[in-house]
Amino acid sequence: MNDLFEKCRLFEDAKRVMAAGVYPFFRPIEATEGSAVVTHGKRRVMIGSNNYLGLTHHPRVREAAKRAIDKLGTGCTGSRFLNGNLALHEEIEEKLAKYLGKKSCLVFSTGFLSNQGALSCLVGKNDVIYSDRENHASIIEGARMARGETLKFRHNDMNELERIVSQSRARYEGALIVADGVFSMSGHIFNLPGAVEIAKKYKCRIYIDDAHALGVLGPKGQGTEFHHGLSGGADIVMGTFSKSFASIGGYVAGDDDVIHYIKHTARTFIFSAAMPPAAAATVLECLKIVEEEPEHLQKLWKNTQKMQRALNEMGYNTLGSKTPIIPLLVGDDMMAFAFAQKLYELGVFATPVVKPAVPEGCALIRTSYMASHDDKDLDCALSALDKLGHQFGILGNPERQKKLAVLAEEHFGKSG
Ligand SMILES: Cc1ncc(COP(=O)(O)O)c(C=O)c1O
Repeated sequence: MNDLFEKCRLFEDAKRVMAAGVYPFFRPIEATEGSAVVTHGKRRVMIGSNNYLGLTHHPRVREAAKRAIDKLGTGCTGSRFLNGNLALHEEIEEKLAKYLGKKSCLVFSTGFLSNQGALSCLVGKNDVIYSDRENHASIIEGARMARGETLKFRHNDMNELERIVSQSRARYEGALIVADGVFSMSGHIFNLPGAVEIAKKYKCRIYIDDAHALGVLGPKGQGTEFHHGLSGGADIVMGTFSKSFASIGGYVAGDDDVIHYIKHTARTFIFSAAMPPAAAATVLECLKIVEEEPEHLQKLWKNTQKMQRALNEMGYNTLGSKTPIIPLLVGDDMMAFAFAQKLYELGVFATPVVKPAVPEGCALIRTSYMASHDDKDLDCALSALDKLGHQFGILGNPERQKKLAVLAEEHFGKSG
């Protein structure tokens, strides 16, 4: 017999990073203007947020949230299934389904709960999930909760997906190919056209997590399907309001019967309290803004292109990202922590990503850009990244750059 808490006393990973003075997590934000934050009393340019369209501080969005509090109070105090269903939730579902080109939509309290709930109720004992190896943790949790099996394929590798599907498909009843539309760490775009071909050939359904694609990809920010000109290519599109839509909450969208089924069987939907009124009103206002003010999407891509060009020219390995998530491959975990700490001291906020979020030895500095950044912010970040890249021997060091290129090819593959 052992004490249950023994593992807690023995857990040293975070303490070691704290002791080295480079712990980058849980930094308390005292104030924010969207593209910058104040932490430890100092303004720092934020290049580690998912606020892609910069809408968290849009005057119309703030006003809508305040009005909702005045009319409906601060919380729903219950599940939508019972006492917490707001007319606002249903209005989001109707408008979002139209925007996404789907028949039906269901709003959950978070994106994490959307993935957990939808995957676990859809994939039964005799079914299978084919899951990209770089998928988000909430997909992994949903797949674990599901009663069916999960088979993983190499990130964005359609040859391997087809090989695995062709060898295994006959053993299962239903099959679901699941992938992030935009992968949260590499910034890669999923090869949806390739997956659609495989799905047709082997009778699989497709489920896309558009957490980082909503508001970002496609002519009006409708996501991965629209980026590829493949509206209807995925059977289910899931997303979150915690990024471009400046709020909190999640959704799944698809055909009427499928959404009706999820609505009445997903335990994370039925047994968790509904997203609060201010959060729901925020989402509705963001939906209006993405339709009425295309300048935010245009500015996001202008900033993204500037940063992609500059960081690649400096010599950073950005894993070939073509989205506003631009990872900088560093390699060693402790080096990534030290790099992020120095960056922070130079007035730039970005977080390192280490194992298990990325494979061992593939630590990144995850940078991401927003419509609300101005050139001054971006130039400040670039100057700090240039200085530190040389200081840490990542830039101007062909030997090291070659090694990082090999790591990138081996572990991250390509964007679709
Ligand atoms: C790809 C992906 N899916 C799902 C989620 C979960 O979304 P939420 O923050 O709404 O729980 C995230 C958030 O980090 C994400 O990056």
